[in-house]
Amino acid sequence: MPGAASQPETVPREGGLDRGGGVDADGARLEVLGQPAAGTSRLDWNEHPLGPSSQAVARVVAHAADLHRYPRGLLEAVTAKVACHHGVDAGSVLLTNGVDEATDLVLTLVDAAWFVCPGFDGYEQRARVWGRTLRRIPLDRAWEPTTEPGELAQGGAVFLAQPHNPTGNLFRRRWVRDVIDTAELAFLDEAYLDFTDVPSHLGLLAQHPRLLVFKSPSKAYGLAGTRLGVLIGSSALIGVLRARQRFYSVSSIALHALAGALDDLNHLARLRRYVQQMRRRAGRQPAV
Ligand SMILES: Cc1ncc(COP(=O)(O)O)c(C=O)c1O
Repeated sequence: MPGAASQPETVPREGGLDRGGGVDADGARLEVLGQPAAGTSRLDWNEHPLGPSSQAVARVVAHAADLHRYPRGLLEAVTAKVACHHGVDAGSVLLTNGVDEATDLVLTLVDAAWFVCPGFDGYEQRARVWGRTLRRIPLDRAWEPTTEPGELAQGGAVFLAQPHNPTGNLFRRRWVRDVIDTAELAFLDEAYLDFTDVPSHLGLLAQHPRLLVFKSPSKAYGLAGTRLGVLIGSSALIGVLRARQRFYSVSSIALHALAGALDDLNHLARLRRYVQQMRRRAGRQPAV
């Protein structure tokens, strides 16, 4: 287990894949049907086509006069609100500065990292910066991982997005369970789970102290601009990561936006209806 981190080197992002995990379609625009947000959303970055919840915006504006203060107390209150939303203890929740900070913190615990290829490039990009050993999990033609879970016992954190990005599929549940059982550390990224009807892996946390579940307010809540992430795990593991986190890495603005979004879950329902409508118009199956 490497020590808590020397200064990371600057590593340029590789060409080809970008934040959305797909081929970079520079200038690609989603023409918003129905109720457009101001401007356009980048479909290949999975930006929310309707914009943030009006309650999130209203709460940010209402607290703008408090910006001279550090988020003392606010961080704890919003962490507790997030914990309540997910049905876990506040000690099991770490709010981070996006998926990148969550990934960085996890990478302080391991020497190696596994990624599904092709996949979201953010994990690998951070692991390169930290000089970790990179291990790949290729997909077959049916978009199922080809690596046997037993191979993961060599060590390292396994980064899995479920649903996967860019393919959008869920891997065989048995394979995912075996990975969680075997991996030194499993980082299960549920950034897109709100677009499905399958249950979260949060229910496995009680039996798996080396499992971390990541939730992102960027996509389903339309808060990509806040740069927020939610990492959930055993309170022991989250406690270790909290101790390594930068001082108030999540801003008051982001915290208020998240609190407002959690008070307006109808906004998520609107997005789900909207996505289903778009998929019907595109002649595909209803959203997964
Ligand atoms: C798989 C996956 N996880 C997490 C995120 C959230 O990233 P960020 O925290 O930078 O908004 C994304 C965004 O593209 C993603 O594709």
